[in-house]
Amino acid sequence: MNKITKAVIPAAGLGTRFLPATKALPKEMLPIVDTPNIHYIVEEAVKAGITDILIIVSASKEAIENYFDVNPALEMRLKASKKDKEAEEIRAIANMANIVFIRQKEPKGLGDAILYAKSFIGNEPFAVLLGDDLITSDVKPAIGELMDAYYKTQGTILGCKKVSKDLLHKYGVVQPTGSSSGDLFEVCDMVEKPKDPALAPSDVAVLGRYVLPPEIFKILENTKPGVGGEIQLTDAIKTSMEKIKCYACVFTGTRYDIGDKFGYIKATIDFALKRPDIGPELQAYINTLATKK
Ligand code: UTP
Repeated sequence: MNKITKAVIPAAGLGTRFLPATKALPKEMLPIVDTPNIHYIVEEAVKAGITDILIIVSASKEAIENYFDVNPALEMRLKASKKDKEAEEIRAIANMANIVFIRQKEPKGLGDAILYAKSFIGNEPFAVLLGDDLITSDVKPAIGELMDAYYKTQGTILGCKKVSKDLLHKYGVVQPTGSSSGDLFEVCDMVEKPKDPALAPSDVAVLGRYVLPPEIFKILENTKPGVGGEIQLTDAIKTSMEKIKCYACVFTGTRYDIGDKFGYIKATIDFALKRPDIGPELQAYINTLATKK
């Protein structure tokens, strides 16, 4: 059986929901307290056993490449001022995995971005982690749960969660083939961003994690622009369902959309509250806000 060792992180989107910051700063580099979001995404992949990662960037996202590169000048300065621990920490970031980059020439959609991974992936199944979806879990990395689901089924795997009706319009929503009970079930269709909850085939949405078969590349090459004039990964996955079974894997972790302002603030607060260095101080501050009301 094909072991999954490669992951693709698409991070070339425009990030218009987070303007004006994203005029100059990639949204994937927005810090969750003091660590860029994309660091946590790479960490999730590495914890699941991924060794090789391709990050799809655009011309304005050099900061991501610099973050995962070595910085000898900074390391030297830190060592000179006896900050050896910090120097080691920044060196370790460059050694998290084999990380390579490719530029998407124009933001023509998630499907187009994935197509840039064709030669890196070759003929293997691979993991996809969206650069702005942060998932935390005390149990197992979300992408690891999807990889287990792939080993069980050999199908396409969609990382999913139940979502309240009023939020379904933001996501791809799956149509279960049979029962949607349990944390792994077959899917026969998907509706991308249903305008009305009545048009959604279920309340289970696809949230930023996938295991895809290599056959997806040929399908993407023949996929016409869809919603918003972009090449949609959802359209290609729907086509793939004719030949390859597709499953929804309901992951256990908590997911934050850090490309959305409120999602980003929630992630920052939750992460900060868990930190021993600032958590208690933040909790006390939140308590004062609550009493002010
Ligand atoms: P989003 O739609 O969430 O990202 O794409 P966006 O386009 O940057 O967001 P807004 O709506 O303008 O704020 C989902 C994922 O696909 C990547 C994004 O970087 C994100 O991780 N993506 C999207 C690309 O890599 N290339 C694209 O052309 C579009």
